[in-house]
Amino acid sequence: MRIELPRTRERFGANVFFGPLQVYELDSGLLAEPEYENGAIVGLSYERLHEIQRQMAVVVPVRGERLRLIEGVLFGIPNQCLTIIVSNSPREPVDRFRIEQQAIYAFARHSRKRVLLIHQRDPVVAKAFVEAGYPELLDGDGLVRHGKAEGMLVATILAHLAGKRYVGFVDADNYSPGAAHEYLCEYAAGFALAESQYSMVRILWQSKPKIVDGHMYFARWGRTSRFTNYFLNQLISHYTGFETDIVGTGNAGEHALTLDLALRLDYGAGYAVEPHHIVSLLERFGGERESPDPQVMREGVEIFQIESRNPHFHKAGEHGHVQDMTRAALSSIHGSYLCTEDLRRQIEEELVRHTTMEPGDAVKPVRRYPPLLDVDFDVFRATVEERLQVMPFQPAQPIHEEAPARRRRWWGGTQPARDHPSGETEESPSPR
Ligand code: GDD
Ligand code: MG
Repeated sequence: MRIELPRTRERFGANVFFGPLQVYELDSGLLAEPEYENGAIVGLSYERLHEIQRQMAVVVPVRGERLRLIEGVLFGIPNQCLTIIVSNSPREPVDRFRIEQQAIYAFARHSRKRVLLIHQRDPVVAKAFVEAGYPELLDGDGLVRHGKAEGMLVATILAHLAGKRYVGFVDADNYSPGAAHEYLCEYAAGFALAESQYSMVRILWQSKPKIVDGHMYFARWGRTSRFTNYFLNQLISHYTGFETDIVGTGNAGEHALTLDLALRLDYGAGYAVEPHHIVSLLERFGGERESPDPQVMREGVEIFQIESRNPHFHKAGEHGHVQDMTRAALSSIHGSYLCTEDLRRQIEEELVRHTTMEPGDAVKPVRRYPPLLDVDFDVFRATVEERLQVMPFQPAQPIHEEAPARRRRWWGGTQPARDHPSGETEESPSPR
């Protein structure tokens, strides 16, 4: 990939936000070394991106999406990535999860790709959270709460247990497998540029096409993200004293983090998750209050925003859904200790204008989940492994990896085949 080097940046304490980077070539071939063009553009070899993707878990959160769409996204994920699917699809009256399971199993077998699959509302997952010391994620029924962030938290723990260094997210409702593939290459490109082990890559969609008056219109900003970006930028500007428009990815559903960073952020519930990442970075590593992580303060956090070339075709959200998302995003900023009274007032006005909030209504704070770092990972693994489905995987022709003499367990240790956590050997898998 040939990609622009960061030109503009904005610092906020230990965080460095780089301005959006353009991609000049999606595949720049087999380069022996990074190729620099006037210090402005770098060519990253296929091997370099491959090496990073090999250490990456790609998470696809699913809630009742059409199979065609889910499959399309899976087709776009490079073979070297571990795929993790956390589904919150209904099990009644039709067991959608069972249908997904069968399709994903067939996909994993045909593509020889390793896929982990679990249902977010499986009681065993809830039990694992309780026993591992993280009960915050459970609802009144004693199950993991509904929500995209909640599914992402399950997946982040699995990525960590699988020994991965990076975790990237791709929505399941994408009509274009090629776009999903591009995002995963851009995640790798961002991490190739990163100097800190605490880094994040966020995709800025080149456009979100929609039909307007019978014609294709390539919208630049989503209906929520225009507000989210504005207020995040205002928040940063207040502290730096210089107005900025550096944040263009406040709602980036397509984003990736190093596990080192992912485990140290707190999380906003549901669709607040992406804007809350920025809020959490500013609060924890912005230097306004003492940071819980002096090590991160020393090394710094890098936030890359990469502009994709493919348009983003996804299932269009209903107006009410977009309003909920706007409310979640702006409430996350409103609830931050960094938010000024003036900005709070502006957010309230915006919520009244663009959502169902009435003047005088209190802004409901977004639920927050603490960082995952304190989870007892061994306990979590021991509890969840009975239910985790590890789809078949036989390395056909490993490129950089030597075939292990003993089969690898999914989290990286080695065990004889009979101890495979799905309860089956990798040669004779069957869907449950
Ligand atoms: N596991 C799980 N659990 N997945 C979920 C849940 C849930 O409760 N709810 C939604 N998902 C999945 C969907 O199936 C889809 O793959 C993805 O999360 C995004 O959900 P959408 O409902 O398609 O969200 P959106 O398109 O309105 O918004 C997306 O883009 C925004 C930026 O424009 C999301 O990624 C937002 O988080 C993002 O801010
Ligand atoms: Mg969507």
